[in-house]
Amino acid sequence: MNILIIGSGGREHALAWKISQSPHCEKLFVAPGNAGTSQVAENVALRVDDFSGLGRFCVDRQIGLVVIGPEVPLVKGLRDYFEAQPDLHNIPIVGPGHSGARLEGSKDFSKAFMVRHGIPTAQARTFTAAELDEGLQYLAGQQPPIVLKADGLAAGKGVVICATVAEAQQELREMLGERKFGDASAKVLVEQFLTGIELSVFILTDGKDYVVLPEAKDYKRIGDGDAGPNTGGMGSVSPVVFADSTFLKKVEQRVIEPTLSGLQQENIPYRGFIFIGLMNVKGEPFVIEYNARMGDPETQSVMSRIDSDWVEVLSACAKGELAGKKLKISDEFAVTVVMAAEGYPGDYAKGQIITGLASTTDARVFHAGTRQTDEGVVTDGGRVLAVTGKGASLDEARQRAYRTVAGIHWPGAQYRKDIGLDLINFGK
Ligand SMILES: Nc1ncnc2c1ncn2[C@@H]1O[C@H](COP(=O)(O)OP(=O)(O)O)[C@@H](O)[C@H]1O
Ligand SMILES: [Mg+2]
Repeated sequence: MNILIIGSGGREHALAWKISQSPHCEKLFVAPGNAGTSQVAENVALRVDDFSGLGRFCVDRQIGLVVIGPEVPLVKGLRDYFEAQPDLHNIPIVGPGHSGARLEGSKDFSKAFMVRHGIPTAQARTFTAAELDEGLQYLAGQQPPIVLKADGLAAGKGVVICATVAEAQQELREMLGERKFGDASAKVLVEQFLTGIELSVFILTDGKDYVVLPEAKDYKRIGDGDAGPNTGGMGSVSPVVFADSTFLKKVEQRVIEPTLSGLQQENIPYRGFIFIGLMNVKGEPFVIEYNARMGDPETQSVMSRIDSDWVEVLSACAKGELAGKKLKISDEFAVTVVMAAEGYPGDYAKGQIITGLASTTDARVFHAGTRQTDEGVVTDGGRVLAVTGKGASLDEARQRAYRTVAGIHWPGAQYRKDIGLDLINFGK
């Protein structure tokens, strides 16, 4: 069958790489894609929110499966658009409609959903702009650190952890009163701070049945030792040592199963990925957030550990036929190191020529922000490449990833040196 992946990051390159290995995949397209996806698929110059353009493309190229990578087209209702068009409504899609994507698109909705269904999560209260004074008063009675969360999509910048009440009050004024994040901060959650270790668990579901994907830990800060500002993600590791079978069993029983039965009870159809961001608090799972899609750079590590025919699994999800499906997961470790442009996550330059891309043997290089030009592959984003090494141990996977990273160059390239180190030293 012909397949279309929507998106242009490292996540989409990893999905494209995995999908392209399946004998069920005839022609693979990525819209809009990057220099890496063009090695395994054909890039299509369509934006992720050009619903009518994407629809016409699917008809023209007889697309038999659409996989939606990023959150924006999900929350904007790409699936709903396809379902409403007579010539598109039969095309199987991986990715929920607008109603399901609210799990990610509204933190107020997802918090209330968790409370309704008894899913463990931090306590929170939501305030609107009209309730700013009430919110400020409420904050005065809270014990710092205090977590403030903009309700809507804010490209990973909408959560602020405040060290004092005064700081939280100032932040609430900016978010609600001054609409710091636009409509995304028309509502703000004030949330209890949880102390623990974070990890992410992913499922692929057709709304009734599901498969659990390999879990992963990601590294959000720009600097070694989790220092400096937040980024889209600077690395990931799978498996995660502290997510043992006892912990993962709790996640299935207390989180995954009530999430799916909650969606069913509320008549929210859901065919796609659910990313469950968790805090492990002394062995007990608490949900930090849901995403309605896979994470980046977690996907690069997760795809590297899946041994099943990925198109069969995705297709079964999109058609509502996941019952009885099992995933084959490799025992190997995967470590992904993101290489970013100088200055990221602040302002950064684009258009630097990347060298050393061809000399990789130990690890797989997924492209994130790259572009093919006549002079070669150039940087075209903040996060430029994601290099994934695999090995029988975490140490071996790390070494393979870092050996390959060391051979890739452009002026000002930066990356973290400590991806996975905390897990090697875990418990020691
Ligand atoms: N209740 C909480 N307690 C402690 N840390 C939190 C809490 N909520 C969020 N965080 C931290 O903030 C980060 C971002 O929050 P999250 O809800 O995942 O929002 P988003 O990914 O949309 O920015 C989390 O990865 C976590 O490190
Ligand atoms: Mg998050």
